[in-house]
Amino acid sequence: MDFESLSADLRALQQRALDEASAAPDPESLELLQIRYLSKKGEITTVLRGIGALPPGDRPRVGAIANGVSEAVKAALGRREAELHAEVQTLRLASERVDVTLPGRPRARGTLHPIPETAACIAEVFGQFGFVVYEGPEVEDDLTNFQMLNIPPDHPARDLWDTLYVDIPGHLLRTHTSPGQIRVMQSTRPPIRALLPGRCFRYEAVDASHGFEFFQVEGLMVDEGTSLADLKGLLDEFAHALFGPRKTRFRPGYYPFTEPSVAFDVECLVCGGVGCPACSRTGWMTILGAGMVHPVVLQYGGIDPERYQGFAFGMGVERIANLRHAVPDLRYYLENDLRFLEQFR
Ligand code: DAH
Repeated sequence: MDFESLSADLRALQQRALDEASAAPDPESLELLQIRYLSKKGEITTVLRGIGALPPGDRPRVGAIANGVSEAVKAALGRREAELHAEVQTLRLASERVDVTLPGRPRARGTLHPIPETAACIAEVFGQFGFVVYEGPEVEDDLTNFQMLNIPPDHPARDLWDTLYVDIPGHLLRTHTSPGQIRVMQSTRPPIRALLPGRCFRYEAVDASHGFEFFQVEGLMVDEGTSLADLKGLLDEFAHALFGPRKTRFRPGYYPFTEPSVAFDVECLVCGGVGCPACSRTGWMTILGAGMVHPVVLQYGGIDPERYQGFAFGMGVERIANLRHAVPDLRYYLENDLRFLEQFR
């Protein structure tokens, strides 16, 4: 090995390295070239192994050439790296270009389900009369759901509430929100103005107007001198707030926990009172049951019926929602079909 051939090897190596660098397609191949030429075990070092065979005077000259080759290869790799980086950048800028003139994409917003929305609307009307929202448990005991509401075991009125029982003796899924009346009376003192919204359960065959799971809103007022006239005035205001200026009427009804009991009707929202299939040709639609709280029920609530009177009312939220939105079948509320739900924006 002499100086001429060694320096010729180095020059050839440099040319090859520069060609390869400028043709490198991506950063990974640049990395490989860097290892192949410039690392400790790279090709330049390998060529320099032959330096020991040269006369001492030639060695520094070969060393200087080798350094130059190293620098040139390093610079070529650096240039190509910058080029590749710029290419990537240009591609990215092109693909991520933002057209600020495009119209915005609308974001779909959810809405309240019509049942809680109707319950909130009911609570708002009664809230204006000072009624405060309470909640009772969905798993109730027989005592509170029935007996303290003046419905003893074996009372025929139990047939009005086909009951789902749970595995805890003496407990059931509440069949109405009325047991909340007992809980409110037992935990607060008159004057009471309570509203009790909640889910109820009955052992029912499901059809367009019955569910085994449904919502009610219960109301209770207890004070000195509370009368049926107060109840009528309040319910009239409620019906007008929800359904506009329509005729209303009170009919005698029967519930074990109220005496007297009434059914509250509003002029048919479909035919305006003439009579149509929606109101069974009566011209009226029943929207709730109500009455003066039975003295026995007040007593169970720990309230002296000699001093205080109360009225109570209870309504099915699905029924009110049906009337507000002209929904013909309460099964829609539980199916969560967006085509149905999206109509309540
Ligand atoms: N709890 C009754 C039901 O589920 C509705 C009801 C009627 C509630 C009269 C009352 C009331 O508070 O006074 O059918």
